[in-house]
Amino acid sequence: MISTAQTSHLDSIGTFLAMEIFTKAQKMAAQGRDIIHLEFGEPDFSAPLDAADSVRKSMEKNSAGYTFSQGLEGLRNEIAKKYEEDYGVKILPEQVLVTNGSSLLLYLAIRLLAPPGSQVILTDPCYACYENIVRLAGAEPVLIKLRYEDGFQLDTDELKKRVTAKTKAILINSPMNPTGVVFSSEVMQSLADLDIPVISDEIYADLSFEDSPRSFLSFSKQTIAINGFSKYFAMTGWRLGYMITPKEWMSAADRLHQNLMISATEFVQEAGISVLQKSKVYCEKMKAEFNRRRIFVLKRMRELGMDPGYTPTGAFYVFYKYPDSSKTSLDLCHEVLEKTGVAIAPGRDFGAMGEGYIRLSYAQSMENIDRALTKLADSKLLTS
Ligand SMILES: Cc1ncc(COP(=O)(O)O)c(C=O)c1O
Repeated sequence: MISTAQTSHLDSIGTFLAMEIFTKAQKMAAQGRDIIHLEFGEPDFSAPLDAADSVRKSMEKNSAGYTFSQGLEGLRNEIAKKYEEDYGVKILPEQVLVTNGSSLLLYLAIRLLAPPGSQVILTDPCYACYENIVRLAGAEPVLIKLRYEDGFQLDTDELKKRVTAKTKAILINSPMNPTGVVFSSEVMQSLADLDIPVISDEIYADLSFEDSPRSFLSFSKQTIAINGFSKYFAMTGWRLGYMITPKEWMSAADRLHQNLMISATEFVQEAGISVLQKSKVYCEKMKAEFNRRRIFVLKRMRELGMDPGYTPTGAFYVFYKYPDSSKTSLDLCHEVLEKTGVAIAPGRDFGAMGEGYIRLSYAQSMENIDRALTKLADSKLLTS
């Protein structure tokens, strides 16, 4: 007999609630409703033209085979160069492993450092998949609350109290999804001082608007840095990401990667080389536009009575505490979508602490953001 009991060991692995909102929004759009999407962290810009040019050339020479499992040497050289030029940290190309998107690398990094039964420290809220992948790896997530009153900065004193003999890694993300907060240098330094390996999700590192972009590697060598091309390069669907580990951990990382993936797509890796070499000006323009929107969103939200109460300075998100605490964030997002046609992400997607919040993504045109905020304010669903 075929039954769901067969897969019940995965029952604790949750879905992305933003996807539920997106699916409903798609259905509504198919019925002719005017929908504005602010629920996803996906740049509304096209990938740099250099990427498409590179793929055309790759196709002419049939660059579509397996590659060295850690990734093309040319790409790993460019990544090492980027880390030195943009974040001031020296790494060797041998420390880099490339794969199809950074999501798999989050899982790989946990498997690498945290054996089943051990503990991994996460923040609450955090990116929706972190808790799930720690569980998938058989480890236990230990959640440290990020408080609104602290501007969502990490309280490292509280974190220290939660370290046990079973703690094998700390997973952080700065600039952060869903709050858009960049952790302060003091927070980073005191994490480094703990002498516990840190998995640093640096996918938004280049989208830091008030400080220079930074890697946790400049605070500690005991780091797995994870980065990719989805956000700053606007290449979500290209599926290209990489991780940087100490040399001592690379053999195990590469063995895992070979077994799970063999290698990343060759022509996409070649496109990665191309954009790293040629597309900085284009990407910096996108970044400037994100910053313009950030400033506009914060100003408009305050004018419309939806003050987030803190200033996000990175990524492209605002986390907003709505006044009506009688509604769950998921119910509220459904109601907002039905009544206004604006799709936003429920805070619950990002952990228990996210309940009572919604996340707005400003990876949307200024015109759509403006229209969406006016509709949200007019609906009075997010104001007191
Ligand atoms: C914090 C964070 N890490 C990783 C990812 C996934 O990136 P990729 O497209 O490289 O898998 C996302 C995507 O939204 C994210 O927000």
